[in-house]
Order: sequence, then structure tokens, then C-alpha cells
Amino acid sequence: MEQLDQQQLTVTKDWWKESAADVPRLITETPGPRSKEMHTRAARYMKGLSSQVKLFPVCFEEGYGVTLTDVDGNRYLDFSSGIYVTSLGHCHPKISEAIAYWAKKLMNAHDFTTPVKEKLLEKMADVLPGNLNAIQLYSDGASAVEAAIRAARAITGKHEFISGYRDFHGKSMAAVSCAQMIRGDVFSYGPTRAPGFYMVPRPDPYRPLWTKADGTIDTDKYIAFYDQFITESTVGNVAAFVLEPAQGWAGSIFPPDDFFPKLKAFCEKKKILLFDDEVLAGMGRTGEYLCMNHWDVQPDIVTLGKSFGNGFPVTAMVLKEEYGEALESISASSSYGGNPMACAAALASIEVIEEEGLLENVRTVGAAIMKRLERMKEAHPIIGDVKGKGFLLGIELVKDKTTKEPFAEAGTLVYQKAFQRGLAWIPAGHILRMSPPLIMDEAYAMKGIDMIEDAITDVEKQFGYL
Ligand SMILES: Cc1ncc(COP(=O)(O)O)c(C=O)c1O
Repeated sequence: MEQLDQQQLTVTKDWWKESAADVPRLITETPGPRSKEMHTRAARYMKGLSSQVKLFPVCFEEGYGVTLTDVDGNRYLDFSSGIYVTSLGHCHPKISEAIAYWAKKLMNAHDFTTPVKEKLLEKMADVLPGNLNAIQLYSDGASAVEAAIRAARAITGKHEFISGYRDFHGKSMAAVSCAQMIRGDVFSYGPTRAPGFYMVPRPDPYRPLWTKADGTIDTDKYIAFYDQFITESTVGNVAAFVLEPAQGWAGSIFPPDDFFPKLKAFCEKKKILLFDDEVLAGMGRTGEYLCMNHWDVQPDIVTLGKSFGNGFPVTAMVLKEEYGEALESISASSSYGGNPMACAAALASIEVIEEEGLLENVRTVGAAIMKRLERMKEAHPIIGDVKGKGFLLGIELVKDKTTKEPFAEAGTLVYQKAFQRGLAWIPAGHILRMSPPLIMDEAYAMKGIDMIEDAITDVEKQFGYL
């Protein structure tokens, strides 16, 4: 134990600032010549690349704090945290140190207890709300989701699942069956989803399906529809609603504040579990450990990933205490889940959130960004809506503010143009998605927004709006 404590490095809150002083630093055109050459060589073998890479084939060599540096020496401001992953900054010294310590001491001991696992489990039980403390660890989000589906079946003895339009939960069979992939290709080979998996509309305040007389979104009608849907379309054996608390891939879409409380009450009445997939939105991204905390709703099952290990592949499935026994029957463990390096990364990540006051940072800087986005919405003809909480943010581009017709071509161009200005971020359909590292302060956040606003202005000129 003494040795374990020695790796508990504490760093100052501003550990990343010096390295970011000159960002964006562009010394070649981007992507630069070395990036292009290396990417071309790698792409001969590496197939199935994401649109993120295809649209901007840069080759990164280094990441520190809020910046990424490419092989040509260009330095970018990070507005994506990898892909919602390196949320506490690239190579946070405390987290890198913790991983390195266990990389030299004990890399894998299957699901035996290790000192660092024991500490992590206690820490998780401490920061998660209510009695969410029956835990199993995995190494990717889809595996945690897959296990949670098995757990929900074991807990309820039921086998049907309902998820929301445009939700995303990963790419394994059960996870894909709960997801509406935006691209049609995953489903093109059929069968479209595993039997017993259904999707229903979920409330999007900018594009409501059902509204009240005053034009605002009517969440009661969504719940009433779910009731009818269960009667008409299922065999009445629904084990769980599987939902993202806020939709990440769909474009940082948050439901109205009354939606989850109403859904939870409905689930309790129907004896259906609420499975809250926090892989993307959890661990501080919205200013709370769980995004669901914003609505004071206690889910029955939670999955964590991405930011959970700040880049080290570690994920978790967490159940309410009373459901822990159910895991005995689903063969819950895995080869890599909960290895000491993974536990060290996750434990250090939670400690960093606490020590650096990052939930508070996300709330205050996130609110300042949102104010700026509201002003941009007024000023720009192609911004139809701005949305988000904390550091999970979106800008919805439309061809016309009245018809709200999505403007995907503009989204792609804005992505490329802001990247050329030195912003590493996530490609859009018609919704620009922003997920800066949680350590980012307001000055750097505004630098990033400046690059996005300049790119939007360019695109508006190109399409004749200005
Ligand atoms: C909400 C959500 N759940 C699950 C996953 C799957 O995680 P992974 O890519 O680690 O399998 C993702 C990935 O983007 C996600 O956004």
C-alpha cells in the first residue's frame, strides 16, 4: 500500500497552460506534407476510416493538455477530446504516471482483486449517486452496453428493449440493435436489428414531434405514445429503456428537463428498468458525474466509458446495489476488464476531476460558451439552433431558419475550414459538435469558438448568405 501511495502525484491545475501558449501554431498548410505522406502510406492498409480522418487526413504525433501537434509541427487546439475520450487533457501527468506505475508492476490478473481495483470501486461508489454500486469493468463501451443488456434480462426475466431514435450505443450486435446509426451502411446487410429491440421517438426541443398549444414540446405525449407502443408493438416483456441521457452522436441534443423524471415514473409503473448509457455524456462532461444528475433521476443501470480512463481503455457497467446478484448468472467478467493499469487510469481520472475542481469549471465555462453561441445564433443566417450543457455542445446549421432544412454540406465545410485554422474537432452532419477537454478555461474556449465562427462566416459567404 505504501508503494501505491507513492504514485499519487498531484499537479497544479494549470499544468497544461505553458504548452498551449502558442496554439494555434500553423507552420505549413494543413494537412502538411509529412502528414499527407504518412497518411497515404497507412491508408494502403488501414481500411474503414472514420469521416473525421477522411475529411482531414492529418497525422498526429503528440498531445499535451488542450493541444495536439502533427508530424509537420502544426499545433491544434483540441475541441473534441479525442472523441469525447481524453477529457482531462492529453497525457495528464497524474494519469500517465498512474498507468506507467502499474505497467511496470502488474498488468493483468483477470478479475482477482488488486489494491488499485479495490480503491477504484470505493471511489466510484462514492461519486455515483444513490446506491449505484454493483460494478463490473470492461475495456470498451459496447462491451459494457452488451453486458448491461444481459444484466437487464437477468434482473427482470424479460427480453425486450426500447431505445430512442438517433441514439448511439456502440457497434456490437445488441448495442447496434439499440442504435439508429446515422449512416445506413451498418444496417444494410440485415437483419436490421436483433429480435425484441425497438426504437421510439425521443424529444428534441428544436424539432418536436408533439407540441402543446403554446408550441412548446409536449413530453406527456411522448410518454403516452410509449405506453401505446408497448401495448401494440411488443409482447409486453420490456426489460429496459436504453437511452443516452443526452444524445452525443446525434448532435448534443438534450431532452426537456421534465422528460426523464416523467419517463422514470412511467418505467416504475410498468416495472421497466431505466438503463442510462453515460459512456459519452458521463464523468463530468456536462458538469455532473452523471448527466442524469441534472434531472435528479436515479437510473437502474449505468454504463461509463470514454472519459472514464481519460484515454486508457476502461469502461464500466454499474447497477443499483439490489441488482448485483443478477450478475452472477451472466458470466460478467472479461479478459481485460479491470486490469490494474485500467483501474489506475480511472481512479486517477476521478481524483483529477475532484482535485482540479473540474465539474465547477465545466459549469462556468460551459455557461459562458453557451452565451456566446446564443449571440452567434442571432447573428448568423445559417445557425438554426444552439444546444448543450457544460462541455457537450452543438450548433445546428440550417438552410433556412423557418423551414429548418438541415444544411449538411455547410457542416462538412465548417469542419474542414476550422480544422485548417488550427481546431482539432469532430466532423458534423448538419450539427457541429463541440467537446473540449474539461480542463479548458474560458480564454482558450473562446479561441476555439472564434475559429468556428470564422469558418461559419466563410461558408455563409461561399453559399451567398452574406
Ligand atoms: C453513448 C455511447 N455508448 C456506447 C458507445 C460505444 O463505446 P465504444 O466505442 O467504446 O465501444 C459510444 C461510442 O461512441 C457512445 O457514444
